[in-house]
Amino acid sequence: MDSDGDGIGDLDGIRQRLDHLVELGVGALWLSPIFASPMADFGYDVADYCAIDPLFGDMAAFDALLTEAHGRGLKLLLDFVPNHSSDQHPWFAESRSSRDNPRRDWYIWHDPAPDGGPPNNWQSNFGGSAWTLDEATGQYYHHAFLAAQPDLNWRNPAVRAAMADTLRFWLDKGVDGFRVDVIWHLIKDAGLRDNPPNPGYAPGQPDIQRYLQLHSADQPEVHEVIAELRGVIEEYDGRLLIGEIYLPLERLMTYYGQDNAGVHLPFNFQLIQAPWHAGGIAALIDEYEAALPPGGWPNWVLSNHDQPRIAARVGEAQARIAAMLLLTLRGTPTLYYGDEIGIADVTILPDQAQDPAAINEPGASFNRDRARSPMQWSPDPGGGFSNGEPWLPLTTDWQTRNVASQADEDASMLALHRALLRLRQAEPTLRSGDYRRVDAGEGLLAYRRGPTIAVVLNLSSEARALTLPTGWQDADILLTASGADLARVPDMLPGDEGLVLRLPEMAA
Ligand code: GLC
Repeated sequence: MDSDGDGIGDLDGIRQRLDHLVELGVGALWLSPIFASPMADFGYDVADYCAIDPLFGDMAAFDALLTEAHGRGLKLLLDFVPNHSSDQHPWFAESRSSRDNPRRDWYIWHDPAPDGGPPNNWQSNFGGSAWTLDEATGQYYHHAFLAAQPDLNWRNPAVRAAMADTLRFWLDKGVDGFRVDVIWHLIKDAGLRDNPPNPGYAPGQPDIQRYLQLHSADQPEVHEVIAELRGVIEEYDGRLLIGEIYLPLERLMTYYGQDNAGVHLPFNFQLIQAPWHAGGIAALIDEYEAALPPGGWPNWVLSNHDQPRIAARVGEAQARIAAMLLLTLRGTPTLYYGDEIGIADVTILPDQAQDPAAINEPGASFNRDRARSPMQWSPDPGGGFSNGEPWLPLTTDWQTRNVASQADEDASMLALHRALLRLRQAEPTLRSGDYRRVDAGEGLLAYRRGPTIAVVLNLSSEARALTLPTGWQDADILLTASGADLARVPDMLPGDEGLVLRLPEMAA
């Protein structure tokens, strides 16, 4: 929500819309980076970790947001970006100023290869080499993302101490925790060895796919660093650490750490990446549940600011089923803004592209702008988001797809999200009751949550025969995905329909 008409969302704008979050029924709000930044990568290039960028407001606006969020019972999480800073950060200015500057070793510098090229074959996630030559000092610096995002050297204890202090700065203010950006990247191979070629690479794919990221990320020592970050969090009561981690399941699970020394929630992106088929989704939930370490609390994510939106991937009808899935699984769900009204893709013409990844590798990367279009609040001009020109286009159906319009419709996407979240608040079983899968038939995903709640989802658009355990037919229907009023559990579940049931006692 933009409060000052510049077309860009800001802190006062979010504060004005907190009631939406309360009515929706979420418990916490995660903000993508709001820190001082030249915005080479939309704030994921931080020039001052303890200042608010003027685009979004000032520290008074932040304090007001935090106070009002807490006053409404909402927690507030910030986005901590420790792997890299902006090249405009004073630390980097000092580091690049000379080879013997005391902060030289705060970043990752290396002499050129014998042919003058980069020190190794590591690729940037945003295309091209992950090394840029600093002509003045004759060495290359490493950047896993843009050249404007130099990687900090987390092997240097001074970097760790400075970063711990930035966490304390925000924790002292009362923020409830952090989502930590690319946490699995923090430590790289001490010898900076080449990555092995990726046998699955095909020309035309993003450069980052050329090699397997064996030495440039997910190193064993990263867990020591995370234990230190967790230690800082533990200096305070009731704060949360979430890690952004794109890794296969077995690797992901290691980020829970030994003896509570990892992140509380290693983001689980499997639903984002999985093909949308009942059998595959059922298997991945089983595998995830089985792989959790003792005491590891699950979490689920359907969309985020880097990936195609759920409604764009599976279509609006299945996006309702996806919402029902996300909000009835065990653990903490993360809902991406706008998914609650079913925002799908927006078309971004080449000259409208803002995402640096898409600009660097046109055609190869997903243009993340397509998942970042402004929230649509009302049928007013600018979708009620801004009095000015919104920084990215709205969806073509914004005049009907908005919070105000959907708030009046019983069967809207918004109504479904509100009902699901209300149910989740009322039924502790939905949050923490055990998860047990049930075979209900082809195309269907069915499970029991604790002894009392059951969920049956049709992941196809065709009606499917239900073969349910004894007693389920006599269940009360608490919610339907379509909003239809059903008197009893049907024998055939319509396409794109889902049910949340309260089981009669003694149901199998
Ligand atoms: C993470 C963020 C993404 C950003 C990148 C570099 O993946 O989610 O938006 O571009 O890190 O910081």
